[in-house]
Amino acid sequence: MVKAGFIGVGGIVSAHLNYLKTRQDVQIVAMCDINKANLDRRVKEYGGRPYADFRQMLDKEKPDAVWICTPPQVRREPLVACAERDIPVFCEKPVERSAEAGDKIAAELARLKARVQIGYVFRAMPVIRKFRELSADDSIHLIHSFYACGIGLDRCMPAWFYKKELSGGALIDQATHNLDLLRSLFGEVVQVQALASNPVCPRKAGYTIEEVITLNFLFRNGSAGSHIHTWVGDAWRNEMAFSGEKRHYRLDPGAQKLTVLEGRKKHNYDLGGGSIYVHQNEVFLRQAQTGDWSTNPCDYADGLATLKLTLACDQAAASGRIVKLQARPPRKKRQPG
Ligand SMILES: NC(=O)c1ccc[n+]([C@@H]2O[C@H](COP(=O)([O-])OP(=O)(O)OC[C@H]3O[C@@H](n4cnc5c(N)ncnc54)[C@H](O)[C@@H]3O)[C@@H](O)[C@H]2O)c1
Repeated sequence: MVKAGFIGVGGIVSAHLNYLKTRQDVQIVAMCDINKANLDRRVKEYGGRPYADFRQMLDKEKPDAVWICTPPQVRREPLVACAERDIPVFCEKPVERSAEAGDKIAAELARLKARVQIGYVFRAMPVIRKFRELSADDSIHLIHSFYACGIGLDRCMPAWFYKKELSGGALIDQATHNLDLLRSLFGEVVQVQALASNPVCPRKAGYTIEEVITLNFLFRNGSAGSHIHTWVGDAWRNEMAFSGEKRHYRLDPGAQKLTVLEGRKKHNYDLGGGSIYVHQNEVFLRQAQTGDWSTNPCDYADGLATLKLTLACDQAAASGRIVKLQARPPRKKRQPG
């Protein structure tokens, strides 16, 4: 039985808890939040003992695994507290709001030999494995990605999401998922260009985010790519198109669907049917139970590299200049999950 503890039980934690409560081998033992209303609501829904202080929770409950779902500024203390107690952690993305703080955390976690999986949700999904498998013999040179939702229109998120200094806005909070997937599939980006604007509501106090963003990238292997993003769109949509020498691929990671066009042939793969959050939790539980972390889809250092790419895009949008990145050395190909 895995005794599960949770730090930060606001919105996204329910995506994890809804899956975990279906597992016979998981016991939700404790939850911690500094917001009493959120804490009471989640304890009522999912059980577990409530705590306002995560160190107390860790010491009293001694969980076997912890999920950290706090805002990005609240990363170091809970991560280090778990690492010092040798507790494996699933930590939501992004790994931090600032790269400098992220560098310090990465060094501390490495010293403590921390076991951390970052919640870049697409990486562990079967549809991504399928894409890797089907494109293994192809060379992809042109990459396009698009992510839309309407949270700038309906303002349904907690207030901190709309303050760029806190959430990082559409780019650092959300586009980072697609940027992470692109760098995990196609390697490091070495140059970015960007534009951003607010066609619906100008930036003002409490609403300092950009509403629409376009990015262009050059990958180290010479491939070119783009990502476009909106927070003032009609619905949640995520679509990617990859042009290879042998085939053309259309990927919808949210719906877990892939279409492969080869000459006149068209093959559709539907790996959906459930929550996208299941797969990363399956991997995390397996790692926590077996102690084998060789299949970790995204460790802290890897998540930090995605944060640095995301921040470079943000810097490119703010400056109107091309930003060059110091890419990490090439990694060995591996099949996460
Ligand atoms: N993977 C995804 O698809 C996805 C989706 C949404 C959010 N997220 C990420 O998850 C994180 C949380 O987002 P959210 O939407 O749940 O935000 P939220 O504001 O709804 O919840 C965060 C919770 O953390 C609590 N908290 C803050 N400081 C704390 C502390 N010191 N100790 C204990 N609790 C503390 C807050 O009180 C709040 O209840 C963010 O990093 C966000 O980017 C990921």
